[in-house]
Amino acid sequence: MNKIEAVKQILKGRPTEPCDKGYAFAPANIALCKYWGKRDEELNLPFTSSLSVSLGTLGAETTVTITPQEDRLTLNGEAVPYPSLIMQRLVEYLSLFRTSRDLHFHVETYSSIPLAAGLASSASGFAALVMALDHLFAWTLDKRELSILARMGSGSASRSLFPGFVKWHAGIREDGMDSYAELLPDTWPEFRIGLVMVSDAKKTLGSRPAMKRTVETSYLYNAWSAMVAKDMSLIVRAIHDHDFHLLGKTSESNALAMHATMIDSWPPILYWKPETVTAIQKVWKLREEGLRLFFTIDAGPNLKLLFLKDDQHIVLQHWPEIEIIHPFA
Ligand code: PMV
Repeated sequence: MNKIEAVKQILKGRPTEPCDKGYAFAPANIALCKYWGKRDEELNLPFTSSLSVSLGTLGAETTVTITPQEDRLTLNGEAVPYPSLIMQRLVEYLSLFRTSRDLHFHVETYSSIPLAAGLASSASGFAALVMALDHLFAWTLDKRELSILARMGSGSASRSLFPGFVKWHAGIREDGMDSYAELLPDTWPEFRIGLVMVSDAKKTLGSRPAMKRTVETSYLYNAWSAMVAKDMSLIVRAIHDHDFHLLGKTSESNALAMHATMIDSWPPILYWKPETVTAIQKVWKLREEGLRLFFTIDAGPNLKLLFLKDDQHIVLQHWPEIEIIHPFA
């Protein structure tokens, strides 16, 4: 099945005439059990399930209106020019929802993700866009259907439909209708994330080609899926029991294993900088000294520290410059 057919299936019988305006907010998210590797590149279907925590009020606020001639994107008040990779990706995605050839969209997005924070903006961007389109056309889709549509923009966007802890079920169906995210009932108000910026340089290899290369060439990749299944059940249990040590340990080793599959690929993929390793070793040293501190790293050089409210002042003593996120504020 291709994207157009999948979208058709979900929108069957829904309104096709847009209203004046659609609006939505979607939070950014950070995976504690990572998504790495697609079983279907067209539909963004993953080999394994993943689990994230959404970043509260940090995310994308999007308004969609109808405009003549061509699609437009305004990002934080500035028009994004053609041709650019971001416009190309957006226009391709919007085309899935064009109900007539001369229907064009103006997408206006404000992102509250701190500039250069090393956080992916595509997850909250596609999730907010799909919810704004739902509002614009009055489709009234449920969260599962919206998650499937967001997934086709960017895999991790499927998880940005919800606040809090979110699980994306990998699913097994070829049409991807069982590959969607779902909110976990647990909250954890004391949970904190610290963004350690090592570099704000644009990454040289995007997650899409990096995943593809890993799946095709890494010998360790087969072990990855078995590991994810185990990590997933441990993380769900840790969240439910508020067992911070189990959560931190499992998330950190899950992220390191993901990076191991990349390093094991050919040509090798290494997103880390020397400063990444320095920061990792600093976390390990502080932990040896008794601090309850763990980290996760996505497809980039920056660390996301995981800790609890009670230890926030100690973390700030060691990293005075970092941005601290309260996912449940
Ligand atoms: O959704 P994408 O294509 O941006 O891939 C996200 C990949 C990771 O951030 C490394 C892991 C994850 O689960 O978010």
